[in-house]
Amino acid sequence: MSIKHRVLTGITTSGSPHLGNYVGAIRPAIVASQSADHESFFFLADYHALIKAQDPERLHQSTKEIAAAWLALGLDTRKAVFYRQSDIPEIPQLTWLLTCMTAKGLMNRAHAYKGSVADNVAAGEDGDYAINMGLFSYPILMAADILMFNAQTIPVGRDQIQHVEMARDIAQRFNHRYGELFQLPAAQVDDNVAILQGLDGRKMSKSYGNTIPLFLAEKQLKKHINKIVTNLLEPGEPKDAETSTVFQIWRAFANEKQTAEMRVRFAEGIGWGEAKKELYELLNEQLREPRERYNELLQDPARVENALAEGAEKARVESSELMRQLRDAVGIKALA
Ligand code: TRP
Repeated sequence: MSIKHRVLTGITTSGSPHLGNYVGAIRPAIVASQSADHESFFFLADYHALIKAQDPERLHQSTKEIAAAWLALGLDTRKAVFYRQSDIPEIPQLTWLLTCMTAKGLMNRAHAYKGSVADNVAAGEDGDYAINMGLFSYPILMAADILMFNAQTIPVGRDQIQHVEMARDIAQRFNHRYGELFQLPAAQVDDNVAILQGLDGRKMSKSYGNTIPLFLAEKQLKKHINKIVTNLLEPGEPKDAETSTVFQIWRAFANEKQTAEMRVRFAEGIGWGEAKKELYELLNEQLREPRERYNELLQDPARVENALAEGAEKARVESSELMRQLRDAVGIKALA
């Protein structure tokens, strides 16, 4: 096993990449993957997507778009291992071994599941209404993703911390029963990474329908930026940068000097039309080249497929070896 520090994270393939995904996950992950002292494992969590995304066309399209986005934005697949969860047959196998080591009570306490039950009850439905076993045992599949590659550091959003802690619990239980086969993972939440606001000022999220897709054509990008909700202050009236979504997105893309300058211009009363026009120009300048690469990749999905196949091949060198050890450890092995 490698002595390098290993970082692993998954991206659920249930939507189109948007600015919030880029700023909050893709950009910091790509930067981190350039560091020489650790190894990055990034994967498309398509089995996870199935829990909610049950439109085959949509799932397929999302997988293609998200993979193409990471490649277009400069992920170096010689440095990072970039693969699709479903290309690693050992992951569902490990999921079963872990399922048999997981207390049902632990899953009862998972926030995502509990939240759905609470929503049902609030709506006067049966608690189990429309809840599938995938949602219930979701953290076990996620534990398998993590433990399969013995990753130590798992960069995630706050909503995923509990899942990483559950992976740690499950690993401990397994190690206690069968021997020290797993490293214990820990979540890493980066407070410097911006959680971007969406068009309506709430967190940018597919579930709120307030996103700005990452690779819109220029005209569309301009249109979306114009839809960002602002207040009614006129040009010339001082504006509060800190509470403005326009400024917040600006800051996520600008350098320090540009941010300081824009803050002054807000105080001086820049008009919303002008501020949005400048935001469009800043974003477009940074997104133009990746957008071209992205569109090329979507036209030539075989290139994306090849990159993922190479990633899976690298990943499977490890997953097949660990799976062999695990089967052996639990007593599933040849009789003679
Ligand atoms: N559940 C994560 C999310 O929705 C995605 C994910 C799946 C993941 N497997 C993972 C993240 C393993 C980190 C590690 O964001």
